[in-house]
Amino acid sequence: MGEGYDASFTLDDRTGSERLGVDIFRIIDYIQTHRGENDLAMPSVRLINVTKRFKDILALDRVSLTIRSREYVCVLGPTGSGKTTLLRVIAGLTSPDSGQLLIDEKPADDVKPEGRNTAYMPQQYALFPHLTVLENVAFSPLARGSGKAEAFEIARKVLRTVKLAHRENALPHELSGGMQQRVSIARALSINPSILLMDEPFASLDEITKQELYGEFLTIWEKMGKTVVLVTHNIHEAVLFSDRVVVISPHPGTVREIVRIGLPRPRRVEMVESLEFIECSKKVRAVMREA
Ligand SMILES: Nc1ncnc2c1ncn2[C@@H]1O[C@H](COP(=O)(O)OP(=O)(O)OP(=O)(O)O)[C@@H](O)[C@H]1O
Ligand SMILES: [Mg+2]
Repeated sequence: MGEGYDASFTLDDRTGSERLGVDIFRIIDYIQTHRGENDLAMPSVRLINVTKRFKDILALDRVSLTIRSREYVCVLGPTGSGKTTLLRVIAGLTSPDSGQLLIDEKPADDVKPEGRNTAYMPQQYALFPHLTVLENVAFSPLARGSGKAEAFEIARKVLRTVKLAHRENALPHELSGGMQQRVSIARALSINPSILLMDEPFASLDEITKQELYGEFLTIWEKMGKTVVLVTHNIHEAVLFSDRVVVISPHPGTVREIVRIGLPRPRRVEMVESLEFIECSKKVRAVMREA
């Protein structure tokens, strides 16, 4: 019997997975695509069948999504597909009509925006025009109950992080678009949220400023280890920042597909030229075409 067994083993030139009758590459692909859903990190945000309607427009239709703690998720989709509505639901600025939202595994429906451990950066900069950079950033901790001295200390610290300490006395209109965007990111960071919700933070910037900020924010975010949900129209941006790209399609707003981005971390802007990056972008573009 030993002889027969050895002979069949040496003569068999099939791969291990063929012998087992399974396609190992499909399994690997499945695990990579779903890793964010299944890994052991604690869920940070969980939407279960969330629906939001504006009169006859179904902005979100039974959207279910789990975002893990310290995960980077980009929400990508055409205009009007419900991306902003999704962020506003998580931030507590819009209530869903039905479904459930959990933050850190606790029902969040009755929790006010300032009690949610989230910082929301709206699509427009939304800086106060008559307040200085420092006052704009200190505004958020002040609004959440910090004393004046503490709020200014926090503001100065985050302004150093976004490299704007030297412009703390400037008014917003005295800054470039890229600088204003940094102030608005500093303001979001100033409340030290565990979840950062950013709505197209780079959309209105020119290409060179955008590339500069990409590099800076990759470094800042990877150091801080926060959960980040970033809305964008831009496939490159989505692939560069994300662990997973959630592609949503419009009318009604639904999750079309979730694409896992397996690029190594720390990420660097130069990675956009790598073959792996191009492959990921192609995959996301293909899903977007169907969305
Ligand atoms: N406050 C509102 N009142 C009425 N309709 C709204 C409101 N907010 C959003 N909508 C509608 O809901 C749908 C989704 O809007 P949303 O702003 O979430 O889209 P979006 O994906 O962020 O679009 P964009 O890429 O243009 O920012 C759109 O059809 C929009 O007109
Ligand atoms: Mg929007």
